[in-house]
Amino acid sequence: MSNRYYVTTPIYYVNDAPHIGHAYTTLACDVLARFKRLDGYDVKFLTGTDEHGQKVEKSALAAGIEPQQFTDNVSKNFRDLADFMNYTHDDFIRTTEPRHKAACQAIWKRLFDASEIYLGSYAGWYAVRDEAFYNEGELTKGPDGKRIAPSGAEVEWIEEPSYFFRLSAWEDRLLKFYDDNPDFIMPRTRRNEVVSFVKGGLQDLSVSRTAFKWGVPVPDDDAHIVYVWLDALTNYITAVGFPETEVDDYARYWPANLHMVGKDILRFHAVYWPAFLMAAGLEPPKRVFAHGWWTNEGQKISKSLGNVIDPIELVNKYGLDQVRYFLLREVPFGNDGDFSHQAMVNRMNGELANDYGNLAQRVLAMIAKNCEGQVPAPGPFTADDDNLLAQASALEGALRERMEVQAFHEALEAIWTVVRAANAYVDAQAPWKLRKEDPPRMATVLYVLADTIRQLAILTQPFMPDASAKLLDQLGIGDEQRAIASLSLRLTPGSVLQAPEGVFPRFQEDD
Ligand code: MSP
Repeated sequence: MSNRYYVTTPIYYVNDAPHIGHAYTTLACDVLARFKRLDGYDVKFLTGTDEHGQKVEKSALAAGIEPQQFTDNVSKNFRDLADFMNYTHDDFIRTTEPRHKAACQAIWKRLFDASEIYLGSYAGWYAVRDEAFYNEGELTKGPDGKRIAPSGAEVEWIEEPSYFFRLSAWEDRLLKFYDDNPDFIMPRTRRNEVVSFVKGGLQDLSVSRTAFKWGVPVPDDDAHIVYVWLDALTNYITAVGFPETEVDDYARYWPANLHMVGKDILRFHAVYWPAFLMAAGLEPPKRVFAHGWWTNEGQKISKSLGNVIDPIELVNKYGLDQVRYFLLREVPFGNDGDFSHQAMVNRMNGELANDYGNLAQRVLAMIAKNCEGQVPAPGPFTADDDNLLAQASALEGALRERMEVQAFHEALEAIWTVVRAANAYVDAQAPWKLRKEDPPRMATVLYVLADTIRQLAILTQPFMPDASAKLLDQLGIGDEQRAIASLSLRLTPGSVLQAPEGVFPRFQEDD
């Protein structure tokens, strides 16, 4: 089991165009998936679209087309975005697929047969935007007297027959589960929020709707459709072949190592989902990580403010790897963050173009010019050489540790410590002076630098796949030598390098 890694994104509602939030959650998963693959893991990386529910039905109606046609169109935008962002998901699930309907009905049957679901009737508040039920006590009154959920969504009163899941009976077992698995919910502060929510008492949860039709029919009672969150959460096991649990991908990948989610949907993943699974006799996932939200130039992002960030525009303006880097470097992962043009340009020009890009560019140009475009043969290493190489070698362990806890910003900071050390080493060793004074020493210095860049480029692959690949190409590193296991190899003196070429352009204000 230990070398398997199953990571999932939330499946995205198809009522809207993809925005920065969608791109961000999936990016974090992509970087983890790529890192784990490089580290020799058997990875499954899942993303997809959440296509049922009242919100989607309403959006389809507003667009004047059938829900299926509507979801086909919008789901495609999400797949296109995933390709555009260079994500490496192994599967893209849509909840309207037959495999999912089967899984959804199967988990329902397990819950029903175990008497975890019973028929009653629901009278209470519902927010279509969140597809969530709220208690009176959670609501506030808006200026027009309308009631508002904590998320800001308007709620409406609904009364209808409904099946309920006996969530109230799971309180103690959930608390025990959190206790036994201290890393189940990350970051810590989020864990505390969830624990106090559960300690505050759980009510049975309405898990079916009769007021509309766009969903998976409840087995043996098709007046009801399965509540969209029970439907949606089940995607994580559909994609590993549930209801088959002995064979296929289920045995191989379940329980998932990580469900990555935004902070707004943590409760569904950290409370309802493990309860559903345990009640169905299935294992809960190993971790749910809730990341923070982005604002735009200090303002909350909202359609009504017209400041939604389109990831495609962002990438067209700044570059794909630049955006990937920025999103994971700017903010301690888990916290909220602010997108600003200035912050983006500072990172892009300062850390990418100046620090990393310049390092590679000047070293590779010197080798091209002074060493006939071949990896120079080093002489004996000095303490300074050993020191830089040792710092580079130490990155492997440091990164593994940081990635294990989804601390992307710290992983990048660790890499940049070595980038800066390498730049300081270039300045101190001044290989351009050695060219005349001591050519063998120049060869050694350039060798040490080239090998440091090789190691850096291997480790930046998950974050910036295109730029890192170009650097590795220029260093003449074949595909089979780009894994983490190859970090400890050294460049072969005499091997031919490609003509150097900058990989991190600067952002010019008049671009
Ligand atoms: N369909 C549900 C998830 C079901 S998973 C079983 C859903 N879909 S969503 O389309 O609304 O998801 C949006 C994702 O984007 C969430 O993870 C959410 O936290 C994230 N973001 C939405 N706006 C965001 C920002 N402004 N910033 C960062 N992420 C944000 O919820």
